[in-house]
Amino acid sequence: MADPFGLLAELTYRCPLSCAYCSNPLNMAEYTDELTLPEWQRVFTEARDLGVLQCHLSGGEPLLRRDLVALVASANALGLYTNLVTSAIGLTRPKAEQLRDAGLDHVQISIQADAPSLSDSIAGLPSFRRKVDAMRVVKELGWPLTVNVVLHRQNIDRVAEVLDLAEDVGADRVELANTQYYGWAWRNRDALLPSRAQLEAAEQVVRAARDRLSVIYVVPDYYSDYPKPCMGGWAARQLTVTPNGDALPCPAAQSLPLPTASVRSDSLARIWNESPVFTAYRGTGWMPDPCRSCDRREVDFGGCRCQAFQLTGDAARTDPVCHLSPDHAVVTDAVAAANSVVDLQLVPRPHR
Ligand code: SF4
Ligand code: FES
Repeated sequence: MADPFGLLAELTYRCPLSCAYCSNPLNMAEYTDELTLPEWQRVFTEARDLGVLQCHLSGGEPLLRRDLVALVASANALGLYTNLVTSAIGLTRPKAEQLRDAGLDHVQISIQADAPSLSDSIAGLPSFRRKVDAMRVVKELGWPLTVNVVLHRQNIDRVAEVLDLAEDVGADRVELANTQYYGWAWRNRDALLPSRAQLEAAEQVVRAARDRLSVIYVVPDYYSDYPKPCMGGWAARQLTVTPNGDALPCPAAQSLPLPTASVRSDSLARIWNESPVFTAYRGTGWMPDPCRSCDRREVDFGGCRCQAFQLTGDAARTDPVCHLSPDHAVVTDAVAAANSVVDLQLVPRPHR
């Protein structure tokens, strides 16, 4: 078994935005008892001792943690590479300077579109201007900046303009991630799923932009013949710790019917090595056919366990995105619907 490489530290699920594509859990009330600073410091230490090199400080909105600067300083003191994953709401210049002094290594800012009105309507908050201002502050303070945009039916036609904006603010990298249909995004799936024509147009724009910008484009797997190698395999290289201390192999795994493992009651090493939630789908031994006998089983690991559960009710089935899956029709039906329906309204995520 390999060591984990990255820790996704979900510091809080509180968030000022209400994006219709949010993939965080719906049962937010269960996550209000957030880990304290000393508890996170222990998690960071145990993660470092397990081999983790990168610490992604995420949420919700991590800037809502009053102790964020101390959290960054702790992770930095342990030698972890720290990445702040933020909406930028609250990333004022004084706060950014404190985070820089604490040793923050990298900033990733999400934006919903290239134009204020569309971006603000998707985010559910007037936020576009603050995000662009924060991007400029990040570059002025000398950080590498990744601009992240979740793509869907309502904004994918604006990819060229999004890339222009990223270039204008001096982004080092742009991450265009097609929506993952978990959490609130699942409820909005039919309004979010782009058409094939939209995707093909966006892909052409991305290809042309690669000469001038570093662009990561995460293909929407509903349109692929094979599933994504989700998380690089279940419990293979990444782990997530939720705001209340649950440890998971991926951020969406709390939806699966598996026993929970908490850093409040167990060490990260024991959780990683022995807990049922981490061992359930590690490797290839759990696989059913057609994955069991497939040449690609070490390439895509049977796809995404959370998607298999979402679409079939059984996390141990082949990801229905795979054209070899006996459940593939649930995906092709959704794609057919996306290519025939008129535009549906997004339902913003309610605040809790
Ligand atoms: Fe991947 Fe399983 Fe499909 Fe083979 S059958 S391509 S291993 S999902
Ligand atoms: Fe959980 Fe893919 S999102 S395994």
